[in-house]
Amino acid sequence: MDETGEGAARRDRNNARVTAPGLRERKAAGEKIVVVTAYDFPSARLAERAGVDIVLVGDTVGIMALGYGTTVPVTMAAMLHHVAAVRPGLKRALLLADMPFGAYQITPEAAMQNAVLLMQAGAQAVKLEGESESIIKTTRRMTEAGIPVVGHLGLTPQSVNVFGGNRAQGREADAAARLRASARELEAAGAFGLVLEAIPGDLAAQISADLHIPTIGIGAGPGCDGQVQVWHDLMGIPPGKTFRHVKRYAEVGAIMEAALRQYADEVRRGEFPTKEHSLP
Ligand code: KIV
Repeated sequence: MDETGEGAARRDRNNARVTAPGLRERKAAGEKIVVVTAYDFPSARLAERAGVDIVLVGDTVGIMALGYGTTVPVTMAAMLHHVAAVRPGLKRALLLADMPFGAYQITPEAAMQNAVLLMQAGAQAVKLEGESESIIKTTRRMTEAGIPVVGHLGLTPQSVNVFGGNRAQGREADAAARLRASARELEAAGAFGLVLEAIPGDLAAQISADLHIPTIGIGAGPGCDGQVQVWHDLMGIPPGKTFRHVKRYAEVGAIMEAALRQYADEVRRGEFPTKEHSLP
């Protein structure tokens, strides 16, 4: 069967390196965008091999890999370390880095400096949480300086202490209207994408329809242009109850624990190493 022009265009988009302008085209063509977090080289390499479009070095690294209760303690030094670890694992996928709490709120100069450091460590774009006037200005400044920016609205975990917990946002009519307006402002300021976290699905679908740039949802329903999941959640690593928006695609935590128990048992029983695992 002959390939249609649209089929060939889709194939080219799927094989080409993911770029900020390319993502707009994917939205226009109705193709969903796949985003996952990763914090180290082996995870980045697996995401790349699986054909993920964007790898987010999220500040969830603080919760998932560093053992903090929130993303608030994550520093620029930690983000630079993890961006540098993820960089060699990626070729086609775009590396998006979170700007951590405190890295872009204090002065515009510090925000620019920190974004530049993340880009120099290997990021191809940065993500900023919030919708204040200063975030909109920073988004414009960074974009004008050649730093592609993704916005993040709804539940913005760096503001957990203002929200009083990880609460869904945009449920009341005035909050929903404000989020729609902020999304448009971020697009006008140059953001090339927008994460929508923990907001009602209908509102996320409306925002997605309002914008030319793609929306990436997490707990924001199927009406977004793409989805993001946190690596450890998707792999089933944290034990116990997870958030409603999480789908555990595997139970890797249980597999790793069983492997470690077997290793410990075999060492203790003298069954490992055998001759096979020893130098002659
Ligand atoms: O840090 C992160 O992993 C994120 C996602 C939850 C969107 O910002």
